[in-house]
Amino acid sequence: MMHIDIITVLPELLDSPLNHSILKRAKEKGLVEINVHDLRDYSLDQRHRRVDDYPYGGAAGMVMQIEPIDRAISALKEKRNYDEVIYTSPDGEMFNQPMANSLSMAQNLIILCGHYKGIDYRIREHLITKEISIGDYVLTGGELAAAVICDSVVRLIPGAIGDEQSALSDSFQDNLLAPPVYTRPAEYKGWRVPDILLSGHQRKIEEWQHEQSVERTKRLRPDLYKD
Ligand code: ADE
Repeated sequence: MMHIDIITVLPELLDSPLNHSILKRAKEKGLVEINVHDLRDYSLDQRHRRVDDYPYGGAAGMVMQIEPIDRAISALKEKRNYDEVIYTSPDGEMFNQPMANSLSMAQNLIILCGHYKGIDYRIREHLITKEISIGDYVLTGGELAAAVICDSVVRLIPGAIGDEQSALSDSFQDNLLAPPVYTRPAEYKGWRVPDILLSGHQRKIEEWQHEQSVERTKRLRPDLYKD
């Protein structure tokens, strides 16, 4: 079973995304265990449960302190060996499908969610093994990024999705966007499903779907398209 440990100052923010749909089912099937740890439990100052402090050099904003984070990571490492200690941050490596594929093969992962103006840089230098950004925009904290990473990784664990083919035929798995899909009725308000899909001619349908994938990728994501 895969273990994912998430360290955060806002555990509640992760409740809903981690407990529905595929993530919920994967947990119930015993494919993954995701534990959310409140960083404040590791604060040196248990009265105020403080985990941030002013930055050296007098810049604006607060910085997450080194001790609570080191204590939280050390406590986890006493129980397991981790493949990666991930930090979510807008200046990390851009997350994509190949990274999700590779993380889905891990046994144990820690995800540390950033907040405020970031974390004491010594944590990144000495404890973090992978820094991930989910896109070129700034979130209030790393929790939503951690939820995105968990969702995309866990659905790739064999057995997580009912239809095994389904994860493999996703957009991006072969660097092509998925073809359009339709369901009944075949005509609605005069808008028709392409005739080819109703033809029952399986080989031609697959050819059409591939052509659509190539056309959509060239038009919408030329950066992904390779001849
Ligand atoms: N924290 C804040 N913004 C983020 C982003 N774009 N990706 C990952 N973590 C973040």
